[in-house]
Amino acid sequence: MKSDRLIGIAASVVARAAPGKPADAVLRAELRERGGISRGDGRVISRAVFAYYRWYGWLDRKGEVAREMRRALEMDDAFQSGSQCLSDEELRRAVPDWVFDQMEVSAEWLRSLQKEPVLWLRARPGQGGGLAAKLPETSSSGFSPDALSYSGQEDLFRTPEFHAGEFELQDLSSQMVGLACAPQAGETWWDACAGEGGKMLHLCDLMNNRGLVWASDRAAWRLQRLKRRAARARVFNYRSILWDGGGKLPTKTKFNGILIDAPCSGLGTWQRNPHARWTTQPEDVTELADVQQRLTGHAVVALKPGGRLIYSVCTMTRRETVELAEAVAKKFPELLPLPIEWLANKKTAATNQVWLWPQEMGGNGMFIAAWLKPRAA
Ligand SMILES: C[S@@+](CC[C@H](N)C(=O)[O-])C[C@H]1O[C@@H](n2cnc3c(N)ncnc32)[C@H](O)[C@@H]1O
Repeated sequence: MKSDRLIGIAASVVARAAPGKPADAVLRAELRERGGISRGDGRVISRAVFAYYRWYGWLDRKGEVAREMRRALEMDDAFQSGSQCLSDEELRRAVPDWVFDQMEVSAEWLRSLQKEPVLWLRARPGQGGGLAAKLPETSSSGFSPDALSYSGQEDLFRTPEFHAGEFELQDLSSQMVGLACAPQAGETWWDACAGEGGKMLHLCDLMNNRGLVWASDRAAWRLQRLKRRAARARVFNYRSILWDGGGKLPTKTKFNGILIDAPCSGLGTWQRNPHARWTTQPEDVTELADVQQRLTGHAVVALKPGGRLIYSVCTMTRRETVELAEAVAKKFPELLPLPIEWLANKKTAATNQVWLWPQEMGGNGMFIAAWLKPRAA
């Protein structure tokens, strides 16, 4: 039967996935290597793999993978259609036990982890309405006119709009980080952990391609991808450079703004990436918290008087969020908390620390903190 064959392929992906070999990368490689798998079949395989890890906490881990995968798909069908309600106690199985020691865990967050993630696009500044009119099955987010959710089945990478650089695939919360930076045309910014450039492209766009963004990362291959993405998006006001996070900074330039989108334990991506729930370890949190402190401590030195420091992580552990913010405030008492304005409303005053939760916004979980280096420090 065809469904047995597709489940068999999905089970072989699970067999090859491991810590350091994320299931989504193994899945892409498997589909590529096999070739000739239709888009519809690819979706069935991919759904089975993701359902397996999403419901892993309910499965028999020693049981046959294909059989457990079918159980996971049944649970997923029941949950997504609303016919199965899980108690708050039951929901604790969605994540490993160590998580409860590292952060405040709410039932709402756990419930959100079991839902299908939303796919988000970022249109060029001011172009959200125009893009929505061209691309069917998109809707505006309500948080930014240029952030659109997409509910269709098209391969967006193949659309003419993508090739023309009219949008990027970028999670909603990541877009909120760019908006929190609020870079101005003509300024000089440093995206210190630029990776493949998701947020750098946004900063360049928000600056209307005027001014300069230094994009550094310790991984040369990530910067190569960043360059390819920038060329497609026709973004040229950046300079890419290697930086390992150490005390030797990549330039003597002083910046109007520094974004540290730090490497982190990634709990905020666990809705999109359920395999990581079972491969991330508490030791990773400890190690990454050290890296975050080191990176931030080194980068702060490059702020101009009047410059802004934005720290973001797609995780919610105390050590990588509020404790990092406390450490920065203690080590650099001259820095002033900078209220992040854009999410404040009549009920909540702007603060310099913002939490973005999937259950509230539909994007990844994210923590953002901001400071200002006063002109006369
Ligand atoms: C959260 S990712 C950045 C994502 C990127 N800003 C984006 O929006 O697409 C963190 C990045 O930090 C980089 N990184 C990890 N350790 C580092 C270090 N010690 N120094 C500099 N970069 C580091 C990783 O290579 C990774 O690209």
